[in-house]
Amino acid sequence: MTRALPPDLKTEPLAAHHDRVRFTCGIDSLDQYLQMYAGQDVRRRANSVFVLVDQHEPAGVLGYYTLCATSLSQGDVPIAARKHLPRYPLVSATLVGRLAVAAGRQGQGLGTLLVADAMRRAYASAYVVGSSMLVVDAISEQVVAFYEANSFARLSSSSLRLGLPMAEIGKLITR
Ligand SMILES: CC(C)(COP(=O)(O)OP(=O)(O)OC[C@H]1O[C@@H](n2cnc3c(N)ncnc32)[C@H](O)[C@@H]1OP(=O)(O)O)[C@@H](O)C(=O)NCCC(=O)NCCS
Repeated sequence: MTRALPPDLKTEPLAAHHDRVRFTCGIDSLDQYLQMYAGQDVRRRANSVFVLVDQHEPAGVLGYYTLCATSLSQGDVPIAARKHLPRYPLVSATLVGRLAVAAGRQGQGLGTLLVADAMRRAYASAYVVGSSMLVVDAISEQVVAFYEANSFARLSSSSLRLGLPMAEIGKLITR
């Protein structure tokens, strides 16, 4: 089952009032993305960017993730997941391209909450723009374990890309 957000926390689309400059998660490329590129991506519809904030401190960014449309080759989908997917050469999917929690707030379950929120948004949006799978790109081998603990499975043993069929997400978020 996915965990709901505590009442004092919420996720919302990235907006002008969010303080991107002070966000740091320990990985420069993820900090720089939020500070320099996220707003532009949102304007160009290249990515949707959602931030986690405390309702009592609405400008402070506790974490963020991005979503965009993507596709996978049928051959890249693990055999166990194929029963949930259409047999087209290309499988429509949703990509969590980046996900990060502020350095001072890591290890408190916020990453897990962000993944659950991404699942809920991706599942809801798949009713509007079809998507059979949620895909994540782990930034390192170590982070693969974090996504595996959140129900994702590697697409291949040599890849940092993991996936979870929308059909499985449906069961996780409605249970
Ligand atoms: C990776 C990250 C998103 C995890 O978020 P978090 O809030 O720290 O993680 P949570 O507190 O929700 O942890 C959930 C579980 O994953 C595990 N976990 C957390 N970070 C992990 C990591 N880097 N590697 C392996 N396992 C990890 C935790 O031990 C925890 O397991 P437990 O419930 O059995 O204790 C966060 O640490 C982060 O932003 N790191 C820097 C940026 C980054 O690596 N982003 C990933 C981009 S793909």
